[in-house]
Amino acid sequence: MTPSSSTVLRRLGVNIDHVATLRQARRERYPDPVAAAMAAELAGADQVTCHLRGDRRHIQDADLPRLRDGVQTLLNVELACTEEMVQIARRELGRRQGDPRTHRVTLVAERPDEITTEGGLDVVANGPLVRATVERLGAAGIAVSLFIDPDDAQVDAAAGLRGLGVDMVELNTARYAERHRGELLRLQHAARRAAAAGLEVAAGHGLTHHNLPAMVAQVPEVVEYNIGHSIIARAVFTGLDTAVRDLLAIIRHPGGRG
Ligand code: PXP
Repeated sequence: MTPSSSTVLRRLGVNIDHVATLRQARRERYPDPVAAAMAAELAGADQVTCHLRGDRRHIQDADLPRLRDGVQTLLNVELACTEEMVQIARRELGRRQGDPRTHRVTLVAERPDEITTEGGLDVVANGPLVRATVERLGAAGIAVSLFIDPDDAQVDAAAGLRGLGVDMVELNTARYAERHRGELLRLQHAARRAAAAGLEVAAGHGLTHHNLPAMVAQVPEVVEYNIGHSIIARAVFTGLDTAVRDLLAIIRHPGGRG
């Protein structure tokens, strides 16, 4: 049965990278992304998301154990498929004695000169590397999601790694956010295909309180949204608590009911 947009309980992951961007602009100790994570959780966020980039432009290595220990919900860390990142993830996010939580890594594509993540991970072209990375993360007790473009071939390649520990895909909404024609249909199709293959479906990139309502209403298979830039930007004027609550209202009650 196809889920309807009003019956699905969706989660919001708040990406706190751009709190760290502001901190790194002055190499100061503030604003602290861990404090932002706490505030986001108090406002009702279901998950805290961050991206440790190779160039360390926002989140720093020292933030990861602080986030891991401070976050009360779940921590979702976006990482490129590099040896350096796999080692960091295994060390900082692997299952620890006495901590029942399973942290998540979302594998992303990364180019050093890009302004932000520009495209999904090409699971088809990088099959062996992605497979080896998933296996090594899974062996450390880390759940793995793959950030992919909404293409059949990518969805199918991700579904092929289910047995190794990939339980989720995050669909790249960047082109939808840029208002490319037909993108909502592509997302609908990819979300249905991924859900039918037994994968949980997340979505993210470039989502705002303007473009989110149509997505939530028309792609009910998406059960998790990871949103950063627009929340932190809005928080400058409204405060983080209100910025998070505004988006939660959209994803929990599309159409303004409730
Ligand atoms: N999901 C993934 C996989 C991302 O790489 C990013 C950007 O770091 C986001 C979600 C959040 O995107 P935005 O900051 O545009 O909301």
